[in-house]
Amino acid sequence: MAIRHFLTLQDLSRDELKAILQRATELKVQRQKGTDDHPFSGKVMAMIFEKSSTRTRVSFEAGMAQLGGSALFLSPNDTQLGRGEPVEDSAKVISRMVDIIMIRTFGHDRIITFAENSSVPVINALTDDFHPCQLLADMQTYLEHRGSIAGKRVAWIGDGNNMCQSYINAADRLDFELVIACPEGYEPDAALLEKFSDRVSIVRNPLLAITGADLVVTDTWASMGQEEEKKSRERAFQGFQVNEDIMQKAAPDALFMHCLPAYRGLEISETMLESKWSVVWDEAENRLHAQKALIEFLLNERTNKSK
Ligand code: CP
Ligand code: NVA
Repeated sequence: MAIRHFLTLQDLSRDELKAILQRATELKVQRQKGTDDHPFSGKVMAMIFEKSSTRTRVSFEAGMAQLGGSALFLSPNDTQLGRGEPVEDSAKVISRMVDIIMIRTFGHDRIITFAENSSVPVINALTDDFHPCQLLADMQTYLEHRGSIAGKRVAWIGDGNNMCQSYINAADRLDFELVIACPEGYEPDAALLEKFSDRVSIVRNPLLAITGADLVVTDTWASMGQEEEKKSRERAFQGFQVNEDIMQKAAPDALFMHCLPAYRGLEISETMLESKWSVVWDEAENRLHAQKALIEFLLNERTNKSK
């Protein structure tokens, strides 16, 4: 049987995704009540980070501990992967010693190669192209605050980056309309746009995207690995800031999300994170619960298949 990986949202069926989101909220409630159990005693996650992280590292490491297992933090500074050992060899070796692996890296091809050579499930904890774990948290957050996102209008304001591309996949998996406002030259992948053109459109004016939106989302203008483009991007994204003024055009009960870290004064106003629309702190917390539900799903799938 093929091993289940989670490299993009497309690796889950629509029903599996909905079940994981529901389970995430169950796990959150159990933890709040102190009734959570610890089913994965002795299970180990390897966490490979080739880029920086706060939320992803803390949520996976805490999540594994709360589930009864443990997590190993592996950085390129201390591993042979960082000294050029092939991804294929690293995947074969690490996966023989642990039960599940999470990777944050640059090129998406790198995680595909790793997964192809891994004997245990691999989770994408962000690549240059996708950040599907963040979408689990975002979609859980929407569900908890407003119910089903199916049929709703979501506005993405800013760069057509890994988060934007993950929203495109989410629009397909969860049946919502996505309007992306980005400057010319900063669009998401053309093939992905084409594939989901029934649900996703591009506009150049943020006000057009935001008008009537049920959810407004943005992200940094310069992602990890694009530090040298920071200044040119600041110029290109003038007029694309999400602030209280443009939020007036959104639906009356609209929510605002940002995966964080955020840059106040650039992609958002100084006060946007604390505004009445913002659910960013719930969104950040839900990384923990959503990923625990994902880990549980992947580890149980594996156990069920080996029975
Ligand atoms: N949103 C997110 O993935 O944050 P970190 O980079 O801190 O993990
Ligand atoms: N688009 C951002 C997301 C950070 C969580 C980046 O890739 O740096």
